Amino acid sequence: MQRNRLQYIDGQIIDWLKQLDDVLPRLIKEMTTDTKVDRFDLVTNVDKQLQHQFERYLAEHFPGHQLLGEEKNNDNIQPYDGHLWIMDPIDGTANLVKQQEDYCIILAYFENAEPKLSYIYDYPHDKLYKAIAGEGAYVNGEPMASPAHLPLNDAIISFGSQYMNEQTVKALYDAAFGVRNIGSCGLDSVRVIKGQFGAHINTNPKPWDIAAQFLFAKELNLVMTQLDGQPLDYATSGPFIISNPGCYNDMITILNSNGGYQK
Ligand code: IPD
Ligand code: CA
Ligand code: CA
Repeated sequence: MQRNRLQYIDGQIIDWLKQLDDVLPRLIKEMTTDTKVDRFDLVTNVDKQLQHQFERYLAEHFPGHQLLGEEKNNDNIQPYDGHLWIMDPIDGTANLVKQQEDYCIILAYFENAEPKLSYIYDYPHDKLYKAIAGEGAYVNGEPMASPAHLPLNDAIISFGSQYMNEQTVKALYDAAFGVRNIGSCGLDSVRVIKGQFGAHINTNPKPWDIAAQFLFAKELNLVMTQLDGQPLDYATSGPFIISNPGCYNDMITILNSNGGYQK
């Protein structure tokens, strides 16, 4: 029963995401950009319109489901109760504006605080990643395997070096095979989910940056915690790591030595 219902919701959401293929080109063509807290914090009509359309879609098809989204007021959300969607309408907005590549749409569905469905839609590359509780993860409908264990000295890792102290940055560069940063928390995480990166760290994510990753991590045996190794709460978020199990312990040791990181 529960499985059928999840499959029904999944089918509806996949349809909603795929109809964006008709909507997004026009929105991007007419893109207008505003700033939020500073000149680096961008928002576009694409972010606002996508979230608005999803909010209307939920109200029509799943009344009673709550939406916690980046571009709205979330004061009345009860994040641990009932049906909750978390949305980042565009993750990597700066990439959308500056490069028209390397951005994604993030959606995650929780029932009574349990992650049930997750989507990361890499629209520019036509790759739709999804996870279904108890079933696994898929890319464009094809099952994904758990990544092989990657030791840190063989792994590419990703993090924003401006938020780490110098010794920690140096220690991470010395210990890893290399460092790369895409600039979209969702897509940097996808690299870990696919086994291409060993780990991704964000020292100041919001719930919408990390909501979908919980279920991918669970289904594919990855590790996702706060940077001190404590459990991570999807509703409050905070500094986080998603990691291949083969390099997680070494990452945590480095991050908590020599002064670590700043929020
Ligand atoms: C940002 C991106 C970026 C990360 C920031 C996020 P946005 O999301 O994911 O990679 O470093 O913390 O805020 O603003 O493009 O949705
Ligand atoms: Ca984001
Ligand atoms: Ca965003």
